[in-house]
Amino acid sequence: MRGLDGVYVAETRISYVDGEKGRLWYRGYAVDELARKATFEEVAYLLIHGKLPNREELEEFRSRLIAARRIPEHVIEVAEKLPQNLHVLDKMRVLVTLLYGWYGDGKPRMLTSKQVDAKPVIEAGTGLVGAAPRLLGIIAALEEGRELPSEKFELDSHAAYTLYALTGREPSLPERDAFNTLLILYADHELPASTFAAMVAASTLTDIYSAIDAALATLKGPLHGGALEEVAKMLLEIGDPENAEKYVENVLSSGKRLMGFGHRVYKTYDPRSLILKKVASIIANAVGGEARRLYETAVAVENAALKRLARKNIYPNVDFWASVLLYALGIKPRYYTGVFAVARIVGWVAHVAEYVARNRLIRPRALYTGPLNLPYLPLEARQ
Ligand code: CMC
Repeated sequence: MRGLDGVYVAETRISYVDGEKGRLWYRGYAVDELARKATFEEVAYLLIHGKLPNREELEEFRSRLIAARRIPEHVIEVAEKLPQNLHVLDKMRVLVTLLYGWYGDGKPRMLTSKQVDAKPVIEAGTGLVGAAPRLLGIIAALEEGRELPSEKFELDSHAAYTLYALTGREPSLPERDAFNTLLILYADHELPASTFAAMVAASTLTDIYSAIDAALATLKGPLHGGALEEVAKMLLEIGDPENAEKYVENVLSSGKRLMGFGHRVYKTYDPRSLILKKVASIIANAVGGEARRLYETAVAVENAALKRLARKNIYPNVDFWASVLLYALGIKPRYYTGVFAVARIVGWVAHVAEYVARNRLIRPRALYTGPLNLPYLPLEARQ
């Protein structure tokens, strides 16, 4: 019961994880095929609307994402005043909250006591998918003291725009394609803690801005999206493949957790991580230098860890190789979980829209194990 391990709390047609075989499907399509052939925009449409878009639908969807990069001036003004020590995801939460109403109110509408119209959720949710890269880019630019990313409406690929917003430069085609693959692989994953948090919030029929706020708060933790940043920190600390064996031994013998390893559902290699390992190898080889060294260090950590953990069915999860790829793409580790959020907003919107359409308030019970009917002692009489 603890951690809701193995408990089914909803039905879904959005994604399916086979944790034994290490496979993942979005709306029935194998994710490895989507990662090779599709754009992030097609996958986002598929997840939210339930079908791959035709040309016209895709163009309309893409235009809406691009238009959503325009955000009100007061959001930028508040971003400029945010304390620098806030985590990137906390800053994103503030900015998402400030966007309330900008793409419609995002509230599910109750038609009857059992029927709910989820269109406003999809409407505002799509706006937030489009806005997320700009919000993250503004946060990064302010922290790094560079010019704020513009809407750059002519940059029509979501992957290319996100990389531009984060780094201030337009990516090469291989960089764009690698990042597109990463965004696709992060777009949804059934019911991790952040998606469930969004659903719990949404089941009260609150708006999608608030549900995404709940999801961002949950994603930040190191057992979930925060692991992405921790992996990079760990690999940089190890510094060289030669140090990997000893480092892994020390972590595991002291009973700590190796970041980027293990998963509640996968009992084998995470299929997303396998794909990202290949992509990371290509980009790290092309970039060379530090990126190549980090990749080789990661290979050494993986080998050392698998010797000890594979017998417990603990393998690299998506965050392990994604972290290596993001480093090779020149993104600073403090923005990695923000990148995760840019992709996963799609899954949050899709699951919230699916759930509220047949809404029932999520309100579980906790088994009470404490005493009852204790006598109330006045303050002076207490020990
Ligand atoms: N390193 C060492 N041991 C581990 C690890 C790890 N990364 N993960 C699990 N274990 C061990 C754990 O110590 C326990 O051992 P024992 O049975 O001897 O007590 C056993 O495996 C089961 O652990 P659990 O905590 O019951 O497993 P869980 O299903 O609750 O854990 C997890 C899932 C992701 C929280 C965990 O694997 C973990 O903490 N991993 C490190 C953080 C991480 O990489 N998170 C990213 C998750 S995937 C993508 C994402 O959401 O961002």
